[in-house]
Amino acid sequence: MKLANHAATLSFSNGSPNIELPIYSGRMGPDVIDIRKLYGQTGMFTYDPGFLSTAACQSAITYIDGDKGELLYRGYPIEQLARQCDYLDTCFLLLKGDLPKIQERKDFHQLIISHTMVHEQMQFFLRGFRRDAHPMAVLTGLVGALSAFYHDSTDINNPAHREIAAIRLISQMPTLVAMAYKYGVGQPYMYPRNELSYAGNFLRMMFGTPCEDYQVNPVLEHALDRIFILHADHEQNASTSTVRLCGSSGTNPFAAIAAGVACLWGPAHGGANEACLNMLEEIQRQGGVAHIGRFIEQVKDKSTGIKLMGFGHRVYKNYDPRAKLMQETCHEVLANLGLDNDPLFKLARELEKIALEDDYFVQRKLYPNVDFYSGIVQRAIGIPVNLFTGIFALARTVGWMAQLNEMIGDPEYKIGRPRQLFTGSAPRDVKPLEER
Ligand code: CMC
Repeated sequence: MKLANHAATLSFSNGSPNIELPIYSGRMGPDVIDIRKLYGQTGMFTYDPGFLSTAACQSAITYIDGDKGELLYRGYPIEQLARQCDYLDTCFLLLKGDLPKIQERKDFHQLIISHTMVHEQMQFFLRGFRRDAHPMAVLTGLVGALSAFYHDSTDINNPAHREIAAIRLISQMPTLVAMAYKYGVGQPYMYPRNELSYAGNFLRMMFGTPCEDYQVNPVLEHALDRIFILHADHEQNASTSTVRLCGSSGTNPFAAIAAGVACLWGPAHGGANEACLNMLEEIQRQGGVAHIGRFIEQVKDKSTGIKLMGFGHRVYKNYDPRAKLMQETCHEVLANLGLDNDPLFKLARELEKIALEDDYFVQRKLYPNVDFYSGIVQRAIGIPVNLFTGIFALARTVGWMAQLNEMIGDPEYKIGRPRQLFTGSAPRDVKPLEER
């Protein structure tokens, strides 16, 4: 961050003196006006619900150019990472700042793959949940509970503790997600196998049973790995900001990540892939392609409250680059499984085409986001709809940890404490009960 060669002057219509505010430039993206002294100098706050104009931190991890539809992890375009690297390379990149060299890659893969087994007691903890609990409710609990299992890595201010917590979380998230699934369907948990890849191991823990050998399908393994890469980080979104805010109090890393999982669950964020698939199935039930016109009319009628799930993004005002990659993967998976004529995929393509030509979406710059196609891919792999957000959480864990590490290492970081514009009652006295 460097001081820009100009500053902002804030003037007031009531005659209060002007104040000068410094402006900083990042490497790319909009400059920022430093308002940290605003309250001290004027007694006023800024008002920005939803942080539409607020940079809450400086970060060197992920960069999004929403107008261009560009996403970079540590400077590398998402398209190159998705095509030339795997998810664990991406994890190394996000955590350490650059892609691993040959030996680093071997060591890191080995480190993650050999720490996938969870504490045996975890399965008894899991048994406390109802079998029909939503997997995100279960995951929020399981991830939070890790701090009760690993007392040796709970000091967020200790870099070694954070490193161990990151390795444990990245290694064990697939095991926890698969356990949550197996518990729901009443099948025995599958212990991880260290000779498999990260994604292959997850597939086996999900779909293998102790009764027979499980052969990993390389196309599905590759597709899943790509889903993980595309969801690994996404700048200061709601769940990442939640993790940062939660971690800013000094709580332990497992608790901070559990807060991220809870935030991700919402349908406007990670829950959108589940909501998107449910939406496609509902359109299919109502008549499929023939019902699209009616559905779009409902979306445009604000009184219905219906949104086109998988469309729109706070930052992308262009095609989400992850959606293009996901569409490519969708083709590969459906072809491999002989599902080229999958009616939901056809419906999604048609819906996308119609929406992209419609004035309502064009004017508001609403384009497909990553969730538009990821649900179709996951469903084809056999992942149940209510586990989609759990897969997202698994993949995003590394991003959350990288952002948490960055925050703790930032000398300018403080406990997060937003202020407010108070609109409630003026001071008043409590009246005796009979006079209220
Ligand atoms: N369908 C219909 N209208 C929409 C949609 C949509 N999906 N998204 C935004 N709009 C409209 C919105 O009603 C508003 O219209 P108007 O100007 O007439 O009031 C306008 O577009 C601007 O929307 P906004 O709500 O101010 O935009 P936002 O930046 O606050 O919201 C969003 C971003 C992602 C919450 C929203 O686009 C949305 O709810 N999309 C559907 C859910 C979804 O797919 N979420 C996944 C996001 S990507 C995965 C992730 O990162 O978690």
